Amino acid sequence: MPQITAAGQTFTCETGANLRRVLLDNGIDLHNGKAKLINCRGIGSCGTCAVQVSGETSPRNWRENQRLAFPPHRRETSGHKRLACQTRVLGDVTVTKFTGFWGQDETIRWSPQKSDRPALDSDR
Ligand code: FES
Repeated sequence: MPQITAAGQTFTCETGANLRRVLLDNGIDLHNGKAKLINCRGIGSCGTCAVQVSGETSPRNWRENQRLAFPPHRRETSGHKRLACQTRVLGDVTVTKFTGFWGQDETIRWSPQKSDRPALDSDR
């Protein structure tokens, strides 16, 4: 079973599991601020589940390419990011979350090894 390491925790999931679902089911604070309440619930349209993922996953799909190139995400800075809701876990992965309501900034909010830091106003 693949291992996921995020926000200082490591857990396992089924091969092919949806990364957003696995993170939320394991209590990981995936959405910043009010994006916890205001998000598309995983259809790939809001962009608030953006994360950086290292490891074996499904390839980035057309929804991710479109949403991660659309403001406030920017094509120039989102090349290393994925939408967790569109990502299937195929092997061991590590996950990093960035600040900003959409997770669009380049400041790390939590890393694979280190859990949360207090939310910034820009996260809300
Ligand atoms: S939850 Fe909205 S794009 Fe992933």
